[in-house]
Amino acid sequence: MGIEEAKRAAGQKAAEFIQQGMIVGLGTGSTAVHFIDALIERHKTGLHIQTVASSRSSAEQASKGGLRVLDLNEAPRVDITVDGADEIDSQKRMIKGGGGAHTREKILAAASTEMIVIVDESKIVSRLGKRNLPVEILFYGSPSTRRKIEALGYKGKWRLNSDGSLFITENGNALFDIEFVSLLTEPEYDHKQLIQIPGVVDTGFFFGLAGRIVVGFSDGRTEIR
Ligand code: A5P
Repeated sequence: MGIEEAKRAAGQKAAEFIQQGMIVGLGTGSTAVHFIDALIERHKTGLHIQTVASSRSSAEQASKGGLRVLDLNEAPRVDITVDGADEIDSQKRMIKGGGGAHTREKILAAASTEMIVIVDESKIVSRLGKRNLPVEILFYGSPSTRRKIEALGYKGKWRLNSDGSLFITENGNALFDIEFVSLLTEPEYDHKQLIQIPGVVDTGFFFGLAGRIVVGFSDGRTEIR
């Protein structure tokens, strides 16, 4: 048993919170995959729900499994969104976007009555900032946007695909991954600094969005926080 078991346990537990008739937001990433699998299993035994996805991969997984996937622009509401995180602290502040989907994930979470976060225990931190912070950036003027970020003292690099080509988000933008030199004391300040730069679409910081947190452990246990 290992990290995959912890992710699966968290995903399966969160699926238990989904009730008949709900409209469910689907996060993105290796933990969200387990949640979507568990939903598909529940659907086979009579759970009727509709879903809204934060990425193409989650939409494909859900519709292949027989779940109805709505466009967020057409969904009358979203009851619960379930998504993973790269880091989460005791105030439920998060860094997300390891998979490059954080802008849509944040819009979906903000549109939902509750965001349930599913993580394995390695994602729980006392302070954010060990993992890179993804920042989504419009291509138009992107070298100048990068210079403005660096002028504030942040260092980072453009995200690349494994073949060395530039990673492009589903919104058609670039991602600049900031590496912090030390752990963060006031992530809200960093977010404010970055989001006011023209060309920055959004950062991977999530504040005030997480509701229940389902933590999965490698022995298959879960805890709700
Ligand atoms: C996707 O862009 C991310 O925000 C993911 O939700 C986050 O990186 C967690 O992914 P894993 O569950 O794969 O660790």
